[in-house]
This record gives sequence, C-alpha cells and structure tokens, in this order.
Amino acid sequence: SRSIDLAVIPGDGIGGEVVAQGLKVLTAVLPQDVKLESRSYDLGAKRWHATGETLPDGELESLRGHDAILLGAIGDPSVPSGVLERGLLLKLRFAFEHYINLRPSKLFPNTATPLAGRPDIDFVVVREGTEGPYTGNGGSLRTGTPAEVATEVSLNTAYGVERVVRDAYERAAARPRKKLTLVHKNNVLVHAGHLWKRIFDAVGTEYPQVTTDYLHVDAATIFFVTQPERFDVIVTDNLFGDILTDLAAAVTGGIGLAASGNINPTGAFPSMFEPVHGSAPDIAGQGKADPTATILSVALLLDHLGYGAEAARIEAAVAEDLAARSPGKSRTTDEIGDALAGRVSG
Ligand code: IPM
Ligand code: MN
Repeated sequence: SRSIDLAVIPGDGIGGEVVAQGLKVLTAVLPQDVKLESRSYDLGAKRWHATGETLPDGELESLRGHDAILLGAIGDPSVPSGVLERGLLLKLRFAFEHYINLRPSKLFPNTATPLAGRPDIDFVVVREGTEGPYTGNGGSLRTGTPAEVATEVSLNTAYGVERVVRDAYERAAARPRKKLTLVHKNNVLVHAGHLWKRIFDAVGTEYPQVTTDYLHVDAATIFFVTQPERFDVIVTDNLFGDILTDLAAAVTGGIGLAASGNINPTGAFPSMFEPVHGSAPDIAGQGKADPTATILSVALLLDHLGYGAEAARIEAAVAEDLAARSPGKSRTTDEIGDALAGRVSG
C-alpha cells in the first residue's frame, strides 16, 4: 500500500496557522489507501531563543529520512536578521541540494492584481537554489569603521548551472508552449553571465523543440508587468529568481497565492515545499493569513511524489474557490482551509 512520510516545520509567525490548513487539505485530498504519517519539527525563533540552536545535526539527519518536507515560514523580528534564514532555511536548501527552486505563477480568477483580465498568464520560474550570492562567500574588513569593505561573492559552477538549466529545458519541453527564457545580466556580470549563457546555448542544442530567449533581469521586470504572457519557463540564478518571484506573485494575485518547491530532482534528498511569503509577524495569531499559498505548495508536493491527479484537484479547488468568493468579504485562515478541504473531498 502507498504511504507518505512527511516532515512538517511550522516555523515562525503565521507559519503554524497556514501549515495546519495545508495538512487539512492534504488529508482531505488523499485517497483512503494512502497512509499519511507526519512528524512536526520544532525549529525557528522559539527554539533559537530557548537553546541557541537553529538546525542541529541530529534533526538534519532525521529530516533526511522523510519523503518530503512541508515548511510554513521562517523569521522573526526578535532574532537578528540572517540567523534563521542562513542557519535554518538556507542550510536545509543547501544540505538537501535543492537546486531547483520551482515557483509557478498563474493568473487565478477574481484576484486583486494590476493584470486582472489579461489572458494566458501561466509561467514558472526555475530559480537556482544552491549557488549565486546565497552561499555566504564573502566577508568584511575593518567592520564598523569608515574604511569598511564588504564583499558578497556570487558563486557559479558549471556543474551547478548545467543541472538547473537542463532541468528547465526538460520542464519547457513538457509544456505546450515549449519556451524557455534565460534571465541574467551578462552585459555587466560578464563572468557568471557568460557562463550561464554558454551553458544555456550548449544544452539548448539537445532540445531543438524548445524556443529560447534571453533577457537582462532589469528588462525582465518590465515584461513581468507589461507583457507577462510572453513567458513560459524562466531559468535564472538564486538572487534574480528571489526578486523576480516576489514580483511575479505581486502581479498575478498577491503573495497569498504564491507557492514554491525546493526540489532535489534526483531523489537523493527530500524536497521541501513552502509558500513564497514570509512569517508575517504583524498578523500572526489572528487567523488573518491566507493559507492558499501553502495549500498550493502541498499541490506541488503531491505532484513531486507522483500524485498528479490529487495535485490537479487542489489547483482546481483553488481556482473555483477564488472565482466563488465575494470580493470585499474577508475570510479567516480556517475558513479558507475548510472551504478548500471541502472542495477537494467533494
Ligand atoms: C524566499 C525568501 C528567502 C530567500 C529568505 C527568507 C532567505 O525570501 O524563499 O524567497 O531569499 O530565498
Ligand atoms: Mn524571497
């Protein structure tokens, strides 16, 4: 019989509230014969205050044994900026080689967006997840003095770039429009930019069916707003992908709907699914957070584990739910979770 062994990291702020709704919908959508086991991990701001730990080795080891990880949100104003981000979230992405950070954008019905009514916005950003300026490769000299110097070096390896570019071509080849756009800034970042472009072109010869395009990141931000229907699959580095996917969320329905998957396609490590949004401490504990992004992240998780039909049912339920909601009438976190759980089990 089939089973899913899930690790859950609720994390900080609204993390616990949205993850509870994600689990509710997951339970509702799974067929009877699939056994769902989950273990919750107490990681985040509270743990750090209590013990000084962000992600102890023992917990990392134990997380490795699960089929997948569902994460709520990490970060709290009471913890110095970077401690939890680097010590927990990025540590997980790096340790489990989540080299694909998958962030789809669709224009759902009835959403507050500057692009409402525009046709056919359906693209996915394949953001590199383990390299770029995120590796912590840098330092500072003469810290705190007027002569301070700080560097933050972007690390790009041929191996790391090729594996994400290849994955993006595979995804583009599997979609109806078969178009892949590389976003970088190779007119200025000539070292990394040319490495990316060379590999992009070389791998492209193996995918003659995929149409390719290249955009500098600044120009890409214009097209995200003025002509987002031109995009199908986008591949880009870790930092450009971080920025572009917040913009993508904002123009296609808001950060409350944006889902993501930190994926290791080889299956050597568990992949991790999380909403693109953060812990929103200002609204934590009030039942105000929209759990839809987490619920759509559960759909990505199911798709990754081979439950494509169940993933599609969640997506359809979200589209129906958004189309049916009354504008101006806000619902609680729980009410949205209940509505979606009802639609997927019905
Ligand atoms: C995201 C977040 C993270 C990132 C932060 C919290 C480290 O902004 O998932 O997009 O920059 O990747
Ligand atoms: Mn981000």
